[in-house]
Amino acid sequence: MEKTLVIIKPDAVGKKAVGNIITAFDDFGLKLAALKMIKPSRNVIEQFYSIHKEKPFFQPLVEFMDCAPIVVCVWESENAVSKVRNFIGATDSQKADKGTIRNLFGTNNRKNAVHASDSLENAEKEISFFFKPEEILNYNYDAWISK
Ligand code: CMP
Repeated sequence: MEKTLVIIKPDAVGKKAVGNIITAFDDFGLKLAALKMIKPSRNVIEQFYSIHKEKPFFQPLVEFMDCAPIVVCVWESENAVSKVRNFIGATDSQKADKGTIRNLFGTNNRKNAVHASDSLENAEKEISFFFKPEEILNYNYDAWISK
């Protein structure tokens, strides 16, 4: 089973779309392994996106991500990284395929509702960036739902 990191960004939080986005991932067959709402410092956001620090969109991206709380979550499934990347759609919400998360909940290439890890290696780094090992929960739905 793979795990991947998803960030629900300030635009989606502001639109009260957090619940709908979590439901969409649940319904898509992913299993929630960790979840929290946080307001990281600007410095933490700069570190998280440091790979883009030379890009022209870096400062506006950091400012946008710094404007309000975000929700960070870990989703688990077979091939979770590629499954989630396909499900969220293209970076620019204007170009994202119909029915994808960014198409449904985003606006453009900055206000694009969610971030998701782009490789297994980055997923591991990004998950440990936001979560302590003990915050990643390993459980079995059937173990108590059937009780
Ligand atoms: P995300 O998946 O969070 O990874 C980096 C982010 O940078 C990306 O989503 C976009 O929100 C943003 N981004 C990427 N390209 C552009 C661009 N050309 N203009 C503005 N923002 C961008």
